[in-house]
Amino acid sequence: MSTIVIYKTKYGSTKQYAEWIAEELSADLKNADTVKPEDLTPYDTIIFGAGVYIGCISGIGLIQDNFEQFKGKNIILFTVGLTDPKNKGKYLELVSKNIPENMMDAIRIFHLRGALDYKKIGLGNRLMMKRMKIFEADFVDKESIRPIIEAARSPGPQKKTLKTTTIYENHRFKIETKPVHLPNGNDREYLFIQPVPAVCILPMDETSVYLIKQYRAVIDQYILEVPAGGMDQAGEEPLDCAKRELAEEARFSAKEYIPRGYVYSSPGFCTEKLWLFEARGLTPCEDFARDEDEIIEVVKIQKTDIWKMIHNGEIVDGKTLSILAKCLGET
Ligand SMILES: Cc1cc2nc3c(=O)[nH]c(=O)nc-3n(C[C@H](O)[C@H](O)[C@H](O)COP(=O)(O)O)c2cc1C
Repeated sequence: MSTIVIYKTKYGSTKQYAEWIAEELSADLKNADTVKPEDLTPYDTIIFGAGVYIGCISGIGLIQDNFEQFKGKNIILFTVGLTDPKNKGKYLELVSKNIPENMMDAIRIFHLRGALDYKKIGLGNRLMMKRMKIFEADFVDKESIRPIIEAARSPGPQKKTLKTTTIYENHRFKIETKPVHLPNGNDREYLFIQPVPAVCILPMDETSVYLIKQYRAVIDQYILEVPAGGMDQAGEEPLDCAKRELAEEARFSAKEYIPRGYVYSSPGFCTEKLWLFEARGLTPCEDFARDEDEIIEVVKIQKTDIWKMIHNGEIVDGKTLSILAKCLGET
């Protein structure tokens, strides 16, 4: 396993720590000012030490700007500042200000204490330090590199292994959480609600369409919809399902079923695909029993009234709006 220690220093403490770490690990050692990102390609472990000045981790751009290139490597960052590492609040602030969130999971961060020697800093900084009552000190301590040595000898941060988990499943739908690798390179876990595909049918004649007024327990309302239902019978095709649902819900059979494509009902969290059919040449049929929980009344509506009803908010069901737009959009 090959390791490199890189340091970015102004007054020497970070260099001192980097030398101790490199010596302990028999690792290569380089000043960050002389390193090009491509020099780091051969290394499995990159340890980057950086002095902290006025709340900034100096030279952190080397890791930030090349983070994609370093993916899969064991990356360890150690900062060197005067602030006591026990002051967790200060360090949380330092990290959140300097390290983007997407890097947090992939690098391990340690904080070591440095030194302040008035002779090494310019007059302006010396006056500023005096004004802030920050006095000369030397906290550099070889023992404090121990956790870094251990981290370098252990594998990189364990990536959370995201896996698919089924939360609920029945014959009509499945709810799962699944890992997704996004097109921007990020990995996220998503909730998937996965119903069986469904169909919607718009029964119509020359002048009218037929909707159903149905009680929907989930929203505790009667709502105007097109007949619709899930393809939950073994081997059922969209057209078979359309015929069944039209008969069950609207009590019609049709001479002609015109496919009108499909829509996704709610692609933010739900995979449901709804196949759309226009049903023409209607004749009444009483062949099918409704499901026990279906409280339905068929409503005949003049085509010329549809757009007004949509604008008035009398038709608010998404799939119904979609199929009306598909079938009547040109009229
Ligand atoms: C101008 C100046 C600003 C500093 N700002 C901070 C700071 O914001 N936080 C901190 O913990 N230490 C701060 N320090 C202390 C340095 O981090 C400390 O001197 C450290 O040893 C610097 O690393 P180096 O010796 O490798 O250059 C500052 C020091 C100077 C001179």
